[in-house]
Amino acid sequence: MSLRKITRQEELTGNKPQQMLFTEEVTAIKGFYPLDSEREKIENKFRGFIHEELKLGSTVSYVGNKKIPFLRIYRYKEAFAFNFVTDFLRRFEANSDDYVFDPFSGMGTTMFASMTCGIPSVGLDRLPIAYFISKTLPLFLVLKENELKEIWTALIPEIQRSEPAKVALDVPIMKVAFDEETLLALRKLKSAIEGLPSPHHDIFLFLFFSILEECSFTSKDGQFLRLNRNKTTSNPIDAMNRKIAQIEEDVHRMKLLPHDPTVTEKVMPDVYFGDTRDLSNIKFGRKPTIIITSPPYANRYDYTRTYALELCFHFVNNFEELKTIRFGILRSHIESKIRKDEAPPHPVIKEVVELLERKKLNNPKIPSMITTYFIDMQKVITEWFKVLAPGAKVAMVVDNVRFEGESIPVDLVLSEMAEEAGFEVNEIIVARYKGNSSQQMRKYGRVPVRESIVIWEK
Ligand SMILES: C[S@@+](CC[C@H](N)C(=O)[O-])C[C@H]1O[C@@H](n2cnc3c(N)ncnc32)[C@H](O)[C@@H]1O
Repeated sequence: MSLRKITRQEELTGNKPQQMLFTEEVTAIKGFYPLDSEREKIENKFRGFIHEELKLGSTVSYVGNKKIPFLRIYRYKEAFAFNFVTDFLRRFEANSDDYVFDPFSGMGTTMFASMTCGIPSVGLDRLPIAYFISKTLPLFLVLKENELKEIWTALIPEIQRSEPAKVALDVPIMKVAFDEETLLALRKLKSAIEGLPSPHHDIFLFLFFSILEECSFTSKDGQFLRLNRNKTTSNPIDAMNRKIAQIEEDVHRMKLLPHDPTVTEKVMPDVYFGDTRDLSNIKFGRKPTIIITSPPYANRYDYTRTYALELCFHFVNNFEELKTIRFGILRSHIESKIRKDEAPPHPVIKEVVELLERKKLNNPKIPSMITTYFIDMQKVITEWFKVLAPGAKVAMVVDNVRFEGESIPVDLVLSEMAEEAGFEVNEIIVARYKGNSSQQMRKYGRVPVRESIVIWEK
């Protein structure tokens, strides 16, 4: 059942004890949505499609990658796990004739996993750091033992001699994220890396990005990049030494992957820097047959804040350029801009937005963020339908959200939008239930929120 109560044990383990199942599901729904509300109607419409597979709960987050060679090196915390992708490739009976597409590719988990299974893939992301990470990750698969160690040993004496690299120092977080000595050391290290030839330049830059968090007073542990001036930070050279050691270990551990990752031209992913709301400029070699993806969630997280350090060290020259990226990604965060003529694109969204507009919100921009999120996602789904091959399958992880006691069944609204675009909805698999913030629970009680995998077919 989608809206039953969850226990503390479940929250911790992701396992649902069987006896916790409510048999009368309608009762639970009635408790959460007003009778005859749009949300009750849509829950009723899709009830037969929703089922639980809570064992998938551990694969819809990055945690599952902690043991996977190379994927463990850079923490892209919104990623899903390698095993999530291989599981759905298996369910879709994918083979080397398929072409797997991730239109919100993040660090490139979908492409990396497809590649190791010998399946060609294509991915696209609008955040420069995500594009860079996903493009660089496959290069690790062709490294030879001790290759990086030798380059690193030769690079160390260069670092002191290097001029500090130019970075976007006018961005407020850059003024407080590092102590002076560490910032200088990082800028010199970045300069030294810039002198390396390709592909080692990209591989070392990847490692450089992977140490920024531990060398800083920040942590990527919530909605924003949190600042904690009391945090113990790492010395950049020590941190790089550890990363190089991990890579060398991973070169040996490749046998942990389920398939022999023979890297041929055919399975090398096609990676684009682009916007999935408009795919007209993407030159697909052929029509994708499978999508495995996860969009940003309508939960106020701003990727340009979480990844601000990486962006400031390499991808933007100043604060203005950072803000241009912020306003260019999917409008899932609170600073998203809404045009005057834009309105909720679905009856459920209209209902929730009208209810929220009558409430005292801790951020008055939440209703417009919800509106723009669904306008953008509707465009995205329409674009996917255009580019996919007939019969193509989509597996997309989405999180439902709750603001001031009002839940939004994101999985169902997007599924209805998919139907309108021409897709057939096959299933809605509940991977886990999330709790609510303690503030929401105190005020409105605990309502479990689904994190689902929606399965559609063209
Ligand atoms: C939940 S993450 C995907 C993570 C990915 N599944 C992985 O394993 O790394 C969502 C991604 O969507 C990207 N994104 C945001 N707006 C976008 C847009 N308009 N077009 C393409 N990608 C976008 C974000 O930069 C982010 O990397």
